[in-house]
Amino acid sequence: MTFTKNDDGYLLWLAYEGCKTAFSQSYGDYIKEVAIVGESALLDSVASECSRALASLVGPDVPLQRLSSSSAYNTSVPSLLIGRFDDIAAMLPCFTRTALPAKDGFRIVSGKADACGRTIIIAGSTDSGTLYGVFSFLRILQRGEDISTLDVTDSPACPVRMLDHWDNLDGSIERGYAGKTLWKWGELPDRVDSRYTDYARAMASIGLNATVLNNVNTQPQILTTEYLRKVRAIADVFRSWGLVTYLSVNFGSPRFIGDLTTSDPCDPAVIKWWKDKTAEVYSLIPDFGGFLVKADSEGQPGPFAYGRSHADGANMLAEALAPFGGRVIWRAFVYGHGENDRAKKAYANFMPHDGEFRANVAVQVKNGAIDFQPREPVHPLFGAMRKTDVYMEFQIAQEYLGQGNHLVYLAPMWKEILDFDTHADGPGSTVNKYLAGIAAVSNTGNYANWCGSLFHPMNWYAFGRLCWNSSLSSEEIAREWILATWGNDPVTVETILDIMMRSWEACIDYMTPLCLHHIMKEGHHYGPDPAFDAGEREDWRCTYYHRADKKGLGFDRTRTGSAAVDQYYPPVADMFNDLKTCPEKYLLWFHHVPWNHILSTGKTLQDELVARYARGVAEAESMLQKWKTLESRIDHLRFRAVLDKLYIQVADAHEWHDVCVPYFMSFTR
Ligand code: GCU
Repeated sequence: MTFTKNDDGYLLWLAYEGCKTAFSQSYGDYIKEVAIVGESALLDSVASECSRALASLVGPDVPLQRLSSSSAYNTSVPSLLIGRFDDIAAMLPCFTRTALPAKDGFRIVSGKADACGRTIIIAGSTDSGTLYGVFSFLRILQRGEDISTLDVTDSPACPVRMLDHWDNLDGSIERGYAGKTLWKWGELPDRVDSRYTDYARAMASIGLNATVLNNVNTQPQILTTEYLRKVRAIADVFRSWGLVTYLSVNFGSPRFIGDLTTSDPCDPAVIKWWKDKTAEVYSLIPDFGGFLVKADSEGQPGPFAYGRSHADGANMLAEALAPFGGRVIWRAFVYGHGENDRAKKAYANFMPHDGEFRANVAVQVKNGAIDFQPREPVHPLFGAMRKTDVYMEFQIAQEYLGQGNHLVYLAPMWKEILDFDTHADGPGSTVNKYLAGIAAVSNTGNYANWCGSLFHPMNWYAFGRLCWNSSLSSEEIAREWILATWGNDPVTVETILDIMMRSWEACIDYMTPLCLHHIMKEGHHYGPDPAFDAGEREDWRCTYYHRADKKGLGFDRTRTGSAAVDQYYPPVADMFNDLKTCPEKYLLWFHHVPWNHILSTGKTLQDELVARYARGVAEAESMLQKWKTLESRIDHLRFRAVLDKLYIQVADAHEWHDVCVPYFMSFTR
């Protein structure tokens, strides 16, 4: 089979043929033959990726040799040498040992940098590091850069870089907008779909190393032997791409599938059930990652029913996993009871337990305190839970940002969160310094294009790149993705870059300007419904969040309101608390602002709100117009597919404007 055209988007950013560059003609002068030193499943993946990529990026006949560590000494040195750092240092005395990269890291050197002449060396600290090094090198080729003097040492900032799939066992995906699940439970374990390999390649190519296969609202059946055998078949594929498999588990499992009458985490029979079940998991999947748990949240069972705490629940599971090196990832998305403001609940629930969790427990916290809104201030638990591992949870799926339809590039949002200064240890205490892991809710499904449109993979790509190195700029990442997906025509690249870089602020403007939040339609969360004021829970109503009245708009979370500001460290709390210093981008999150309050633009709140909704619509329209200018530069099928989505986005932006502006203005009369 040849993989060249990327009409349907299936090849993602790995359509190497599509990004032949002006430079690629000369890559053949440098890469005449390739040798890979060492033997492992990961290095088999390295070899297959190299053959595939170099055939497109360098030329059809680059010979590829596999060498065992011992035979390597007698072989003449090839022009591209790939392997573990130790093996290469032993083989080539000229290769310096001094800069051994960190775990999962690698070095790439060529020309003068390695003192070994024109050999290009890709050396990983481990086999997975080598794999990441090879993908990094291939990105250099995809970008068309000079490879004559490379000197790169790189390693991931965060050890756990994870995608969470909200996939159900019946094939549906919660908040999924790209078809059904990728995991074919009906035909596993006997038939193992080749798409699992393509998924794992895509993950490895952007440095992601962990996957949770199933929804946090979990069917307990995932832990039956029948399903564990299916999971093993997937894990066996993932392993050779450095990808560790995790499962979401239902805290009520002992009762639901274990024939016990309780799931009390302090009950000896329950403790034993989890130990036995965990041992069974590891007998099938020796490198299994661990359990992700949504407990006592939105109807999921948890320790509260037995008068136990989150720490009791998490620690019981952690004890079962510890002998095997596994982890519990316990979600902080809990807002059942207590407190006068939903935004305060996770902090109130978890802070009292900081210090009680076992070492192999991580608490996974959404980026903001409500729920994946177009923009939220950072969650106050970051930098605050100091004695517990904390993981970030982002959402790639765009549940509240136009789902599978709107083109919204999320890297700028994630960077705003990761770079936010919590002041936990004084100035410079940015969120990224306090993370033991980063996860994101996936946007993948079984559509040919994986993510719902030809543009939606940009966010999967950007997520991986930022987990690896959050200091990369949104623009750098966008450029890489564009070159790898749409080719290197400069007009095309600059036009798409411009569209992407404006898209997030545009979406905020036409949906939730000035940090309005949760004014989407009930249930499916697509489209506006700010007047929604019904339903079983107060904090599922739109009016709860925007609080529009005759006086003004916004949720008062200052010290005269819900005092949520005081969950932040003092300088940050003071900044948010004061209307004069609160950044306008977070204004209506923290303040109930009078309609006639003058903003930095010189306009009243009332006029500014109207102007922002109008600007959002204008931006969406301009994204569409810009795309239209690319008609002669992009293949017809892909051009049309994107155009159709942009028409939907523009129509939706108008709807947001036409519903929200009259609604909010009705209060100001
Ligand atoms: C949101 C989402 C739910 C999901 C929940 C969670 O509320 O709408 O579908 O289950 O988040 O993160 O657990």
